[in-house]
Amino acid sequence: MAELRRAVLTGVGTYLPERVVSNDEMAERVETSDEWITERSGIRQRHFAGPHESAAFMGAAAARGALEMAGVAGAAVGAIILATSTPDQSFPATAVHVQAALGAMNAFAFDLAAACSGFIYALSVADGMIRAGQVENVLVIGSEVYSRILNFADRGTCVLFGDGAGAVLLQARAVAADGPGILSTHLHADGTQAEILYVDGAVGQPDRPGHLVMNGREVFRQAVSLLAGAVSEALAANGLRAEDIDWLVPHQANRRIIEGVGRKIGIPPERVVVTLERHANTSAASIPLALGQAVGDGRIKPGQLVLLEALGGGLTWGSALVRM
Ligand code: ACO
Repeated sequence: MAELRRAVLTGVGTYLPERVVSNDEMAERVETSDEWITERSGIRQRHFAGPHESAAFMGAAAARGALEMAGVAGAAVGAIILATSTPDQSFPATAVHVQAALGAMNAFAFDLAAACSGFIYALSVADGMIRAGQVENVLVIGSEVYSRILNFADRGTCVLFGDGAGAVLLQARAVAADGPGILSTHLHADGTQAEILYVDGAVGQPDRPGHLVMNGREVFRQAVSLLAGAVSEALAANGLRAEDIDWLVPHQANRRIIEGVGRKIGIPPERVVVTLERHANTSAASIPLALGQAVGDGRIKPGQLVLLEALGGGLTWGSALVRM
């Protein structure tokens, strides 16, 4: 059988800040309760970064874990793509700080902004570069410090997000058609819906660093329907049915969105990885955080088919189908 050049996921690493903030602690800051947050979102706690735990610091820590698992040295990394909406600086890219921290001096490095879909977008870019023969080993990282852009006067948003980072190492390999690697990615955007989830400022705006603003009901409605569509698209493109997928690893935004998508596409809860109860919505970091936990605890095994999906501000959304 002819061999194909694929991007194979050989390592995964994660980092969560030291400080854990419970729902009860959030209830001391805003008019809310553990019961409301748990019932509406499934979230029980989040981690908030300390002053030293920047997107670069956390991204480098997660990347070290991915390299360690793969047994690959920093010097062998050819590219670092870091998805974030909360970079350390406007420039240079957070990815170059990660490069320096890892001693990955043979890598090119850049950031990518696609909000909560950032990790799927970055995975897709890395996959394309590997398939094209441009690079052999790519670190794909999601790292976010949403605590710095949350509006702590808005109880409808500040209880839903947390900080953290996750990373995977993708390595070019010649494999059989039924072998491991990224099988497909599908990306989408709809800028006409930018106003349902956004940050109302940026360093390029006069005196407006910006806070996260969300129309929760509208995001909920769009998320279930667009994500179910993204999953169906990935299945159809690969000639698969829902029962062929061993694990769905969704963006960890809200348990009710995840359950709604699962019901719509026919993947039962026991084949869906949910970790948001311990880290809340960490935007671009949430998929590699969930993946890291499920690989680490032995749920996700070599040879299994794993479908990743995410939706975020933009709107942006997409999927990636991976054989482990
Ligand atoms: N604690 C207590 N009460 C609250 C809180 C809170 N933290 N936040 C809002 N409320 C109140 C509201 O003020 C409202 O009160 P009212 O009826 O007196 O006006 C009531 O709860 C109900 O508010 P709704 O917005 O209707 O609540 P809903 O059931 O829609 O749940 C939620 C809100 C959890 C935000 C929901 O809309 C949701 O999950 N949306 C998806 C958003 C999401 O997950 N975004 C993540 C980012 S996007 C992504 O990553 C996919």
